[in-house]
Amino acid sequence: MKKRKNIITVAIDSPAAAGAGTQAELIAKHYNLFYLDTGKIYRYIGLLRIKNVKNFSHNFVKYKIKNIKLNQLKNKNLLSNKVAESAAKIARNKNIREIVHKFQQKCAYSPPKQYRGSILDGRDIITVQVKDAMFKFFITANLKTRAKRRFKEYKNLKIDITYKEVLKSLRNRDKSDQNRKYGPLKKTKDSILINTTKLSKKACFMKIKSIMDKKLNI
Ligand code: C5P
Repeated sequence: MKKRKNIITVAIDSPAAAGAGTQAELIAKHYNLFYLDTGKIYRYIGLLRIKNVKNFSHNFVKYKIKNIKLNQLKNKNLLSNKVAESAAKIARNKNIREIVHKFQQKCAYSPPKQYRGSILDGRDIITVQVKDAMFKFFITANLKTRAKRRFKEYKNLKIDITYKEVLKSLRNRDKSDQNRKYGPLKKTKDSILINTTKLSKKACFMKIKSIMDKKLNI
């Protein structure tokens, strides 16, 4: 793969519902970066698994990812809790992670020409995918705050689920994502910790922006 030179690369790792996606969107817009929510790819495969239990195989996933269109990641069905849990299951698999790897690397290092660079968020972006990113942020918030935020989002989407179920599901996904063998979620020493528990979206963005502007000499 040919890497574009002199681009801005931003890598974000975070547990579910910590606000990383919201911040990534704001950063992408402000700095004109290509944004990839890598969780959506795992969700896409998670949904494939739910719909194709019988023919779900390594080759099937490989074929689907090879032919994926970015529009498919906007499918509203990917937002359900059932799909999130299925995604966390298939994300434990080494072969699946390898299939996804290539696609993510292309987005990170060779984003479409009209963008100044890329921003990816997920669980293994700093640790595996974009180790040499120009900016590395580990975004987190306490479990209850994350559960409240996700519950509110589900309510807005008219998804039928209780707060308790959301809390339990996030707790289980945290456990699975942090303790799995391949690509576990962990904070690296060289990443900047952003705790969004008590920060508004705007305050959080301003914090990140001031760090980025300083390094970019803006
Ligand atoms: O970020 P999101 O909650 O949409 O991710 C769904 C699941 O996909 C996560 O719980 C995790 O298991 C998996 N994932 C991953 N690596 C990434 C992004 C997501 O394993 N880079």
